[in-house]
Amino acid sequence: MSNSSIPLFLLLLVLCIISASADPYYENSDYKSSSSYTTSRSDTVFSLQVPTLDETTFDNLLSFGYYRKTCPQFESILHNKVKEWIKEDYTLAASLMRLHFHDCSVRGCDGSILLKNDGSERTAKVSKTLRGFEVVDDIKAELEKQCPKTVSCADILTAAARDATFEVGGPYWDVPYGRRDGKVSLAEEAALVPTGHENITSMIEFFQSRGMTVLDLVALSGAHTIGRTSCGSIQYRLYNYKGTGKPDPSLDPKYLDFLQRKCRWASEYVDLDATTPKTFDNVYYINLKKKKGLLSTDQLLYSDPRTAPLVSAFTSTHSVFQHQFAVSMGKLGLVDVLTDQDEEGEIRTNCNFVNAY
Ligand code: HEM
Repeated sequence: MSNSSIPLFLLLLVLCIISASADPYYENSDYKSSSSYTTSRSDTVFSLQVPTLDETTFDNLLSFGYYRKTCPQFESILHNKVKEWIKEDYTLAASLMRLHFHDCSVRGCDGSILLKNDGSERTAKVSKTLRGFEVVDDIKAELEKQCPKTVSCADILTAAARDATFEVGGPYWDVPYGRRDGKVSLAEEAALVPTGHENITSMIEFFQSRGMTVLDLVALSGAHTIGRTSCGSIQYRLYNYKGTGKPDPSLDPKYLDFLQRKCRWASEYVDLDATTPKTFDNVYYINLKKKKGLLSTDQLLYSDPRTAPLVSAFTSTHSVFQHQFAVSMGKLGLVDVLTDQDEEGEIRTNCNFVNAY
């Protein structure tokens, strides 16, 4: 794509995003009535004839008002807990986002990643560095006191990922509820979740097989604007890439030097965003243009013609990234959910175990 065509592309992208999301997802906005959509400022920007959130249901029977009568305090309990935990340990925000992605990636967003039994997804090699389980358990324990046997672990994790994103400066989006918890969780299925060594085609296929698009792949990879990885998972890029005896040529030399010094031990941690690791921003994409993508799957997004124009679009405008991230996270939260209509789902009383009765 030539430089001159980028502004046009960007404009088209913005228009596509706005038209595709005449729904409640919008960063930091209040969704107030059935006919007006206002920003956080007092002036009405534009109006849409759409139903209220409580009236809105999805084909898969999730709805925004799902807990309105049975547990109206659900979101405020969850919000306070997430806030407390992140205040205590900032790194949990990234962990909760990743946990939600891993949950939805295997058998849909059904809380199956939380199950602790032998051979469950949680025991898989790819799950070894997942964190944030204690946050979900804490929220669940409080909810069991206040609204017993009502709120699913899958809904808790979906909402916790949203609140964690917002807590660290990311966008806000409304989450529809009514997910039920799955009873099956298999380590061998978790092994399919991308580990950072894949090529772009397999990542696109992974997303498409879950009803997501290339745009969702590029937008959600932006979650790597925060968080970290262990050096062990990127050392192969630093010295003997693909048996060449040399480092990965797609790494910026200064960044390579930094990584070689930082990653002497496989157990060390390194930030996924080389420049602004604590801020939820679009600098992750700017880093890719500068050959400073930490995971090779991140860097590849800027070298493949199917994804590079989207990376460029997100580097140009922070708000476009924020908006699309919210839309794509909303889609992620809908992947293969179990609802009241599915007999195989339940409301677990303890997120770690299938109900005994
Ligand atoms: C597109 C394919 C993806 C690949 C290949 C990938 C790969 C990885 C890898 C290898 C790590 C480091 C794990 C570790 O060493 O502990 C990681 C961390 C992370 N991933 Fe992804 N990921 C992908 C998509 C996503 C998505 C869709 C999200 C969220 C919506 C996400 C959110 C995160 C976060 C926040 C972290 C940091 C976790 C922490 O600091 O605890 N990733 N990812």
